[in-house]
Amino acid sequence: MDKINVINIISDLHTPAFIYDENIILKKLGILSNLREESRLKILFPLKTFSLTNALYLIASIVNGFSASSLFEAKLARDILTQGKTVHITTPAFRNDEIRDISFLCDYISFNSLSQVKKFYYQVVEQANCGIRINTQLSFIKDDRYNPCRKHSKLGVSLDELRELWKNNKKFFKKIGGILFHTNCESENINQLLETIKHIDKTLPEFFAKINWVNLGGGYLFNSKKDLAPLKEAVNFLKSKYDVEVFFEPGKGVVGEACCIASSVVDIFNSDGKDIAVLDTSVNHMPEVFEYQVRPEIAQESTGGKYKYILAGATCLAGDVFGEYQFARPLAVGSKIIFKTMGAYTLVKAHMFNGVNLPAIYAYTQKEKLELEKQFEYEDFLIKCGGDKYATL
Ligand SMILES: Cc1ncc(COP(=O)(O)O)c(C=O)c1O
Repeated sequence: MDKINVINIISDLHTPAFIYDENIILKKLGILSNLREESRLKILFPLKTFSLTNALYLIASIVNGFSASSLFEAKLARDILTQGKTVHITTPAFRNDEIRDISFLCDYISFNSLSQVKKFYYQVVEQANCGIRINTQLSFIKDDRYNPCRKHSKLGVSLDELRELWKNNKKFFKKIGGILFHTNCESENINQLLETIKHIDKTLPEFFAKINWVNLGGGYLFNSKKDLAPLKEAVNFLKSKYDVEVFFEPGKGVVGEACCIASSVVDIFNSDGKDIAVLDTSVNHMPEVFEYQVRPEIAQESTGGKYKYILAGATCLAGDVFGEYQFARPLAVGSKIIFKTMGAYTLVKAHMFNGVNLPAIYAYTQKEKLELEKQFEYEDFLIKCGGDKYATL
């Protein structure tokens, strides 16, 4: 978070706490809105990234719509959005028992495979626009765990497959009104998006001419209008050559830097010569730390500092550990540790393993006030355990 100095304001918080800064979210959306006005790009926010409802109302007031990955997210999108705003959906797993409801809730449905198009196309109600997710087979990501364009990918119809189909079964394309691709992850180089569009255009030029809309996915980070210049060029290219409607749906780029998780040290001891500081948070509040074995950035770290601690999570999992960090001053029970850039893929994936409570949710508002929005309770845990909130156990 750059706008507020969280270290100064967290002393009174109940930790663990998830704090989102409305001002940073609005700043990022403002950068995108400039582009929307200049090039008629439509902006969507993907609910999979972050879905705190109060913040979503704020985001909804600016974007053209939301994108969903499931029936529940589509329902959430419709609950929050006002009339006239758009809902897109893509998932590798549309289901028989959900497709009808989904097609009432969503305006744009991107099927992930040709078999799903064949199976569900005729169940989609008329007002919904059908498209496909494509695998551009042009990869910029080295780590295959994040790479939708990897070999044997489960995400999207490959350009090779589409080219074959184009040659042999043009009738099939009558069903396809648009395409979605999402091929990058945390990239600061939006030229890669422009390159991707040129690559599709070169591989299958007839295709862009045939469709009405393109959803460019997300996967890019940005801090200024200048960073988005290649996106503007990409949108101008698509609009001037093919006159298609263009959507962009960045998640982490909008909320990643806008949130942090604040925690407190609850115990310190030595283990085989290293000091362990146990925190009241856990990797389960930021699951990608464990999934991808990343070392999260903390606000208090002082590179070269003489006090070293292994920061550990509050659960019994041996690997619930954040990493070794250096500090200028020794930690003590009660010291605060703030994990930075925690807006994306944290609370949406968080769970209560060991019964450890989820972080309380605070908003740092446009009036520069910290407001407690939600404190999870035992009842939330009980419901997850199959219990009834009102039953006396
Ligand atoms: C289809 C699609 N769109 C948008 C996003 C958002 O990506 P990011 O948060 O990296 O911008 C994702 C993330 O997985 C996605 O799968």
